[in-house]
Amino acid sequence: MSFHPVEQAPGRLNRSELAVPGSQPQMLEKAAESDVDVIFLDLEDAVAPDEKEQARKNIIKALNEIDWGTKSMSIRINGLDTHYMYRDVVDVVEQAGERLDLIMIPKVGTAADVYAVDMMVTQIEDAKGYKKRIGFEHIIETALGMQNVSDIAAASKRNESLHFGVADYAASTRARTTIIGGVNPDYAVLTDPDDAGAREVHWGDMWHYALARMVVAARANGLRPIDGPFGDFQDPDGYRAAAKRAAVLGCEGKWAIHPSQIALANEVMSPSDAEVTKAKRILDAMADAEAAGKGAVSLDGRLIDYASIRQAEVLVEKARQIAG
Ligand code: GLV
Ligand code: MG
Repeated sequence: MSFHPVEQAPGRLNRSELAVPGSQPQMLEKAAESDVDVIFLDLEDAVAPDEKEQARKNIIKALNEIDWGTKSMSIRINGLDTHYMYRDVVDVVEQAGERLDLIMIPKVGTAADVYAVDMMVTQIEDAKGYKKRIGFEHIIETALGMQNVSDIAAASKRNESLHFGVADYAASTRARTTIIGGVNPDYAVLTDPDDAGAREVHWGDMWHYALARMVVAARANGLRPIDGPFGDFQDPDGYRAAAKRAAVLGCEGKWAIHPSQIALANEVMSPSDAEVTKAKRILDAMADAEAAGKGAVSLDGRLIDYASIRQAEVLVEKARQIAG
């Protein structure tokens, strides 16, 4: 290991994260009854400008009055380039800060953006005498944010997670797509002709680089990488496939922009029984190997060594966290 320690963010369960517009109070009660791990009450892009003020009031009331159980509660504030943002922070943290676990900062571009919100939140928490510190979730969804992702990830002790905001990221990088997440047939490889002259089209994942880049910045700073929205809520298979790709890269959660996506996220982001059983067998085999003075052995015909212990521990620890 490096001499530089990586401090881990609080171990919050974040397999699914439901977006609920603050302007739709009827959705708030329903969200509280769901099986989602984290809820973000939205003040930003799902709320029209004329509704921002009322949405803020709805959110304050909902945070104070609804029984959210053990769910982690977040608000997505408006961007730092708008005049809504300071009131989002001041009003909600002052009036409902005790039930707020996280603040989601959209379109974060630089470490200074994080610093600015940190300064505001710190002042309010101190003035109100809150004991708990509110954590930060950052949406990486602009070219600037992706360029500065490592600095953003390291910018505050409040940082807990980085989220890939695929829709705004597409707009910011001027990617040629108008769907939210998913794949694009134009991002494909055409194989060379085989002996019979036949060729195949292999679709690629146009978000691979961005997601992988964000995962590295998150993990290097002890944060959770979370995959963002998948817009077609009538396509559970497409959602599952996107969530699996994200999970394989190291993401530990995915947004749900519709309640039907919560169960899909929880399913994909929880290690399966078979994975956990295999991980435990690896740990047992390595314990036996160590007792016999060996650093590497074979299990099911494959080499395992000390790195395998660390891989297996990730899965076993996640299963433990889910079991509560
Ligand atoms: C989320 O905010 C996105 O833009 O995808
Ligand atoms: Mg966005």
